[in-house]
Amino acid sequence: MSDHKIEGWVAIAQSNAVRNKPLRVLVNGRGFVLFRADGKLSCLADICPHRSAPLSGGRVVNGTIECPYHGWRFNGAGACEAMPGLVGTMPRTLVPSYAVCEKDGLIFFSARAVDATPYTTVLAAGDTVSMTVESRVTSSLAEVAENILDATHTHFTHKGILRGLSAKRYKVTVTVTGGDGWVEARYVGEPKQEGLVSRLLEGERSISIGRFRYPGIAELEFWGAKSINLVTTFHLRQETDDTVHGFGILSGPRQRNLGYLKALLFKPFFRIALRQDQHILHAAERNRRLFGDRRQMMGPLDIMRPHIDAILAGQTPAVAENPAVLVMEL
Ligand code: FES
Ligand SMILES: [Fe+2]
Repeated sequence: MSDHKIEGWVAIAQSNAVRNKPLRVLVNGRGFVLFRADGKLSCLADICPHRSAPLSGGRVVNGTIECPYHGWRFNGAGACEAMPGLVGTMPRTLVPSYAVCEKDGLIFFSARAVDATPYTTVLAAGDTVSMTVESRVTSSLAEVAENILDATHTHFTHKGILRGLSAKRYKVTVTVTGGDGWVEARYVGEPKQEGLVSRLLEGERSISIGRFRYPGIAELEFWGAKSINLVTTFHLRQETDDTVHGFGILSGPRQRNLGYLKALLFKPFFRIALRQDQHILHAAERNRRLFGDRRQMMGPLDIMRPHIDAILAGQTPAVAENPAVLVMEL
């Protein structure tokens, strides 16, 4: 299992999931507890230093979180403020605390203090409509990010929904570029797709972009002639050894009420597409475990994966130096 100390912000919960009760979240197999006390959001390691009980099983009281086992109370900085029954001086006791912040309805966590604000989505500001969905899948972060950004599976996994029922394909020019912590593929020459979702949502399409950003953001932009029609931004994290959790933000221009209606209509299709991906990713993960074999062939059209792997390993993707251009039929 990789180190939980990912650099930078990681989305770990929706803001409205943390109200009066503490919430436990997992990041790379470690437990963290989120709680609000006196209006302030805090994040501590979800393990009591006394007998290891998860603090998230306790309650928030007097600006502290109370352990459900013997009632020790910890403030937002992780300092113990009470040991019930103790007469006399309390030993200095600390639970590790972590940086958290909220933006656009999401709670972000960082193992180290970070200055910059977290990135949420391209269309976060301005006159946009957005919706967030959550999903969980048995897989690894690299597999899920690749799945979201891979244009070649849609003909099969999402036939009829994201793609038309016909086998028709179009020649598309793809340019892959990148830099420190990111890689993106630009698709030019793809007319509007024929699946239901595209029919519902998009005007004429000029280009689409798939992008991965460290530590776990997979983002798709669909551009019309002049502006973005639709963006889907997934904030992913490896929850445990075998599960990936994600928040998907769908956003688009408001266009009076139309944008909202479109987003409402889109949501169920989005969920269906998510389920189709969950299903195939789960089956593939199970198969890898069953066969005890994690070797995979990099196909000639797998344009993102090597770079996603490099970024996750803390390296600059090769396309940062040498952008790649290729033509494929999509
Ligand atoms: S285990 Fe938390 S107070 Fe004892
Ligand atoms: Fe998919």
